[in-house]
Amino acid sequence: MAKLGVTGASGQLGQLVLNELLEMVEPSEIIALARDPNDLSDFASKGVEVRRADYDDTASLDAALTGVERLLLISSNAIDKRTAQHRAAIAAAERAGVRYIAYTSTLGAPDSPIELAESHRQTEATLAETGIPHTLLRNGWYNENFTAGLMEQIEAGVIPGAQGDGRISSASREDYAIAAAQVLVNADGGEVLELAGDASWTMDDFAQEVASQSGKDVTYQEMSQADYAATLEASGMPASFAQTLAQAAHATRTGALENYDKVLNEIIGDHTTPVSITINHALSRG
Ligand SMILES: NC(=O)c1ccc[n+]([C@@H]2O[C@H](COP(=O)([O-])OP(=O)(O)OC[C@H]3O[C@@H](n4cnc5c(N)ncnc54)[C@H](OP(=O)(O)O)[C@@H]3O)[C@@H](O)[C@H]2O)c1
Repeated sequence: MAKLGVTGASGQLGQLVLNELLEMVEPSEIIALARDPNDLSDFASKGVEVRRADYDDTASLDAALTGVERLLLISSNAIDKRTAQHRAAIAAAERAGVRYIAYTSTLGAPDSPIELAESHRQTEATLAETGIPHTLLRNGWYNENFTAGLMEQIEAGVIPGAQGDGRISSASREDYAIAAAQVLVNADGGEVLELAGDASWTMDDFAQEVASQSGKDVTYQEMSQADYAATLEASGMPASFAQTLAQAAHATRTGALENYDKVLNEIIGDHTTPVSITINHALSRG
């Protein structure tokens, strides 16, 4: 069996992928790459090899990718510099002789009006230039993106947004992690996978579900992109990230996050997780 590498392994998606891989292959076949290996001590104690890999440190990437045959490149959360970071990781993978790469891109990357998609388009182009067989995991939005500040929103009785009636075909982070693990182990390369939830919903639907499950009076409040960005910033988000998320929300109204292909369902061999379940988990955690 090939040695399987996972970058960004200490992140939320990365740790879910490691758990899935542990169900599929021997721990000794997994090489977890993280900026700080201490973050993955639990996985190290299970027999996973943990190596330091910082996208901003070429020498660390060269050392970390030695012997990796198949690589899952999880996109960085450093939005402003991730195109360069991904290029550095891909160049290091070429030097290390990595035979296959799966990359977490974004839904409908080539035509997406969401500005965050630009760095994914550039990374997809870089991968194509290498000639290394690769799979594009074009992930839709996580359910969890919408439950992050849910308790405060319930308290306020308002869920703000700028999505209009745009429909969102989201799935749980774990659904995407299962797909990524399956692909890393089994895919040949050449696949372009548009991955999204089975069901789509609007922000109004979301607020109604939250109201129903919480028993509280909660409504969706539609805002302009600028007002939504200001609201996010007022809640403590850095200004540039607030602008980015507000732009993504506004672009959602044109169908940028809507998809009915059910490819994610096929890969994970099950229904994707409805947003209602993720809301339920968020309310149980409190
Ligand atoms: N589809 C969606 O709805 C959605 C939502 C949010 C994000 N995303 C994208 O999907 C990716 C994975 O999602 P997630 O939930 O796992 O995000 P996350 O928890 O924020 O994880 C991001 C990962 O990127 C790593 N990273 C950042 N800078 C790095 C560097 N210089 N070198 C090495 N690693 C670096 C982080 O390392 P540390 O652990 O050391 O911080 C972390 O492991 C995100 O990074 C983002 O590109 C998608």
